[in-house]
Amino acid sequence: MEDGAKRLEVIVEFMVPGATLSGDTFDFENNFLYPAYTVYTSEIIDTLKAKGIKRIYYTPAENNDATAFTEQAQDIWESLFEAVRTNARPDLEQTKDFVLSLHQYVKQNKDRFLYLMKIKDYDDYTFTHSVNVGILAMTMASKHGLEEKLVREIGLGAFLHDVGKLMIPKEILNKKEKLTSDEFEIIKKHPEFGYEYVAKHDHIPPNALNVILYHHENYNGKGYPKGFQDEDIPIGARITSICDVYDALITPRPYKRAYSSREAILSIMKESRVKFNPVLVSRFVRDMTPILQKEPLIPVGTLVLLTTGEVAQVEELHSTGDLRPIVKILTNDKQQKISRPFTVDLTLDSTRSVKRIIPR
Ligand SMILES: [Fe+2]
Repeated sequence: MEDGAKRLEVIVEFMVPGATLSGDTFDFENNFLYPAYTVYTSEIIDTLKAKGIKRIYYTPAENNDATAFTEQAQDIWESLFEAVRTNARPDLEQTKDFVLSLHQYVKQNKDRFLYLMKIKDYDDYTFTHSVNVGILAMTMASKHGLEEKLVREIGLGAFLHDVGKLMIPKEILNKKEKLTSDEFEIIKKHPEFGYEYVAKHDHIPPNALNVILYHHENYNGKGYPKGFQDEDIPIGARITSICDVYDALITPRPYKRAYSSREAILSIMKESRVKFNPVLVSRFVRDMTPILQKEPLIPVGTLVLLTTGEVAQVEELHSTGDLRPIVKILTNDKQQKISRPFTVDLTLDSTRSVKRIIPR
């Protein structure tokens, strides 16, 4: 790669109306075309085509942050896992610093997409999910008007909300078949396991601990571990539970396909007054939908490396917050070109995921 630039190419023919790109765009000869975050309407796309511009180029704005967050989160979760395994006291100072930088990110990018290149392998699920839920919960809490200190504490709890799952056997956590009732009872222990573990640390604020303990409580009182109803559930846990479900829905798991951002939002709306507080649901829809659907995470035309080792190009997005686009597979798993590229919809194929964007 020359001069280290992370310039990405977008093939105009494959652009989906409504897409936005996080950097200024240029033509092949480096003439400026449109500023960052322009919404590429069908009119603009037609104009580009009429001018004979087949490819446009841009440098994504915040991919570096996203990669750094993902890597840091991985380190943190690995050391937490190690601490749990050896029954050591948790060292959460690094985690607290990390959440502070996530909070900075949320503050600086308030009205823009949460540009996270999330790697959604099954094994990576815990740490990518925890970053996403942390960012979503802090964004939502801050839009809800909560004071900054509380927002950060909620973020810490949200980042650690599923830490108790490190104490649940993997065979149960990743089981494809329906869980037996005994297995489900074990899974239901994770909020308490997580709470007890994190509470061993001296300096974790109660608001963060509450998120961990109560993130599976429901509005109707049918959640766990306590069966609390609506107002009795701390605000941070009520916010985090919505973000947790949202991120879980948009992620493929061994037993289900990924929902699009839109499907996930609709599904959350259905649970209003059942699982979730109706006011918070309407706030989530009002405040978060425009953010979650504003900018594509992996724009059309991007080359991506799949978890299988294959290289593919993004052809179409299901929604702008989509991490499971429709892609054209260009190489085999050894990255050798194949003679007949073929198209795969990643929402329907759980054997393939986007591992990372290939910079040009
Ligand atoms: Fe959980």
